Amino acid sequence: MIKEKMLSAINRQINAELYSAYLYLSMNAYLNSINLKGFADWMRVQALEEMAHADKFYKYIIERGGRVILEAIDSPPAGWDSALAVFEHVYEHEQKVTKLINTLMDIAIKEKDHATISFLRWFVDEQVEEESSADGILQKLKLIGDSGSGLFMIDSELGQRVFTPPAPAKE
Ligand code: FEO
Repeated sequence: MIKEKMLSAINRQINAELYSAYLYLSMNAYLNSINLKGFADWMRVQALEEMAHADKFYKYIIERGGRVILEAIDSPPAGWDSALAVFEHVYEHEQKVTKLINTLMDIAIKEKDHATISFLRWFVDEQVEEESSADGILQKLKLIGDSGSGLFMIDSELGQRVFTPPAPAKE
């Protein structure tokens, strides 16, 4: 049975992951509205990944005999100034999520909750990838500056991304 402190922290993380999905769906809507369809498709896959993250935490609570409590999800922003502004926001947001995951790990270590420590390792690794992919796209956008053809090329590249559901976490 999972301890109360760990349980409520993971419940808060479900909300944070669902907010991330909401934020990325809002970015998808904005990117579609400025006809960057490849960027929009990439962001949709990103939103699906966040839902899968929320689902991993959700299932984990149930597996540990805890009770999932769902809270209201905040409204995300509805508009940005450019694709560059969107990716500055994605990178900043993922850095915040990394801090949240690290805080969860700190709680698990303090509580000597070995199952949760093991479960969270997947998320620690995932955040390295999340930050790296957001930063990689951000750097490309900075590099191309105002180049329309550069933006078109990145848009085509990002449109190739497909959603792969994450493998179940090992406990
Ligand atoms: Fe669920 Fe983008 O981290």
